[in-house]
Parts: sequence; C-alpha cells; structure tokens
Amino acid sequence: MQKNTQRRRLLNRNEIVQGPSPAALAALRNFPAEEANFYYDGYYGSALAKELSKKFRIPADRIIVGYGAENILDTLFDRLDPAKDAVLVNELHFDYYNVRLTARDVRIHEFRLVEDEREFRFDIDDCIAKIRSFRPKLILVTSPNNPTGNILSVGDLKRILAAAPKTSVVAIDEAYYGFDDRYEEKEFLSLLRRHGNLMFIRTFSKLYALAGLRIGYALCGKDIKKMIGYQGRHLGGSRVLEAVAVAALHPSSSTYYRDLAKKIALERERAIGAVNKLSHFKAFDSRANLFAVKVSPRAKSFIEKEMARTFPLVSKLYAPTILRVSVAAREHMDAFLKMMERADRAAGAPGKAAATTTMPPRRKMTRASKRPRTAHYKA
Ligand SMILES: Cc1ncc(COP(=O)(O)O)c(C=O)c1O
Repeated sequence: MQKNTQRRRLLNRNEIVQGPSPAALAALRNFPAEEANFYYDGYYGSALAKELSKKFRIPADRIIVGYGAENILDTLFDRLDPAKDAVLVNELHFDYYNVRLTARDVRIHEFRLVEDEREFRFDIDDCIAKIRSFRPKLILVTSPNNPTGNILSVGDLKRILAAAPKTSVVAIDEAYYGFDDRYEEKEFLSLLRRHGNLMFIRTFSKLYALAGLRIGYALCGKDIKKMIGYQGRHLGGSRVLEAVAVAALHPSSSTYYRDLAKKIALERERAIGAVNKLSHFKAFDSRANLFAVKVSPRAKSFIEKEMARTFPLVSKLYAPTILRVSVAAREHMDAFLKMMERADRAAGAPGKAAATTTMPPRRKMTRASKRPRTAHYKA
C-alpha cells in the first residue's frame, strides 16, 4: 500500500487534524461487515436522510445525500447547458468550481468581494446587478467563504433571493458549516420554506472530520430536485458511510464537535493575532477553520521559499497575494508562525501588506474555457 507521506506533510486543505468523534470512529470500526452484501432499500431507505430530516426539520425528500459536497456540486454543474446557462459566483472562491465548470465549458461570472479593514465582505449590490444582467441559471455563494472566511448574512441572502429569477438555483455552499458560533441557522433554514429554488450544501469533511469518507448533503427548497433533474440513487447509498455520518450527528457526538469547533476558533484567533504583528502580512477575520493572509509584494518570494521547505504545511497561495491558512493543531500553527516570522524578517524594511497591495486584478466576464485566474491552484 502506498504510504501517504503527502498527506502528513500537506495540512493545507482545511481538513480537521484532530479526527472524528469517538462515536463516529466506533461506528466505522464496528460496522457489521456481514451486512455489506445488502443494498439499502432504495434511496428513501437512506438512514442519513432520515437523521438529517429530524435534526433540521426538513422533509427527507428535500434532502440530497451525496459522496461529498463535491458530488452534489457536480450534480448541479452537470445539469447546466453550456450553450445558454451561466453561473454567478463570488470572487475568490473554491477552485473546484472552476475546474468542473471549465471542463464543461460553462460560462462563469463573478461578483465582487470587497476587502474591509478586518475582513472580506460580499458586495451584494454587485451580485444583484450581475443577476440582472446575466440571469445566471446558478447563483453559487460560499459561506463561510473559502479562502477568505467571510459569511453571507441572512439579510444578504434575502436580497439575493428577491433579485434571483425563480428559474435560477440559489445554492449556498456551507462546507464550513459549524465553525461560526454566531450562525443564524433557524433564520437561514426558514428561507427554504418560502424559496423553492434555494439549497444549502454541506459536508462531513470539515467540522465532522470525515474528509476521507466523502459524505455530503444538501437541504433543499421544494423545487430544487426538479430544477436540477435530480435522480435519487436507484440502489441507495453506502451503508458504512451513512452509519458513520449518523453517529457523527448523534447527540453523543455533539459535545465533542462543539469543543473541537471552539478549540479551532481559539487557535485561529491566536494565529491571526500573531500574523498581524508582522510587517509584511495582514490576516483577516474568519468564521471557518481557515483564514486569509494578504502578502506584501516584497515578501512574496520569501514566503514562497519558506513554504517550499516547511513541512507539514498549513498554507497555500490561493491568489497572487492571498495566502490561505488551514487551522490545524497548535504545534502546526506554531511552525506556521515561525515560518511567517522568518519570511517577514527576510523581506526586510516594514511594508504592511494592507498598505502596499490591493485585491488581485478582477477578471472580466470569461468563458470558462479561458482558464480563470485561480484555476491553477488546487483545493
Ligand atoms: C467551499 C467548499 N465546498 C466544497 C468542498 C468539498 O467538500 P467535500 O469534501 O465534501 O467534497 C470544499 C472542500 O475543500 C470546499 O472548500
């Protein structure tokens, strides 16, 4: 078996190094192997959809269970017609959107992400203007955003929904669900009742620390399945994955995950504070297990050199001057901070990142087949 040394070195994909809850691990270890020969009894036999339905008070037939959020995104993307459909996404988003949409030759438009003093912010006026001009078939917003960690507010989402044609799917990618203790879950989910074209996509890869198992789900408004031509799994999903996911959702796991989210938030705040004492870097507030750092042009080559020789690595350049940092365990973050200090010293005379750089140049409306700006960076 190939020993995955890469995995031990690369901690820059927003995985959770602390691992899943004891109950989820036990479900994996104790899965009754002798039942592996049976299918689930059709899609609606999904044990996970039933659990999610209870937890979020949404009918089970409005829940999509998939192999990771990626699989659910594929279901959305693959339905689009490149000849006439376009997608609107926020600037600086999860690279996979570009990868898949580029492969399908679907047109991508971006709305602005504004850099405020302490955090990034979605420009909802720009989003609405672009909805009106391009009438995108899919409006996709990541909240909290990867790589910038900022969120969409309930008010923002209401404005987007009011502007979106009823024939457009409004999908909120909530892969980083669970790290924001101010998240207004009730208010967000109540919008599903009024907006049949709304969906929230989530995953067990981040908060639940099960990235390697590939489990995701979506909570949908009443029209979504029809709009995306969704077909349930004829023979059901994976029994073992569902058993682990159900254990992760069980009340016996909730203290574990609540504590984990708190620990990660504390580590994130400590790292942001330390980065902001340096001259060439500026770290932005975040509501996820990641945060963005702006790098002064002067420090860029130094940080690149440092990253090439730092293992394990929690950071990656996500745009020309934006570093994304995945919040790992304390010792990894200590190593990251030392790396940043070395690069800061090597870059010399003070030059606060904020004062010397701006957002990367904005991409005009592109055919996805022309590789978008961030496409060469991998998730
Ligand atoms: C915003 C966003 N959406 C979706 C995913 C994919 O999640 P999954 O592991 O469930 O496929 C990621 C993974 O990093 C992500 O950052």
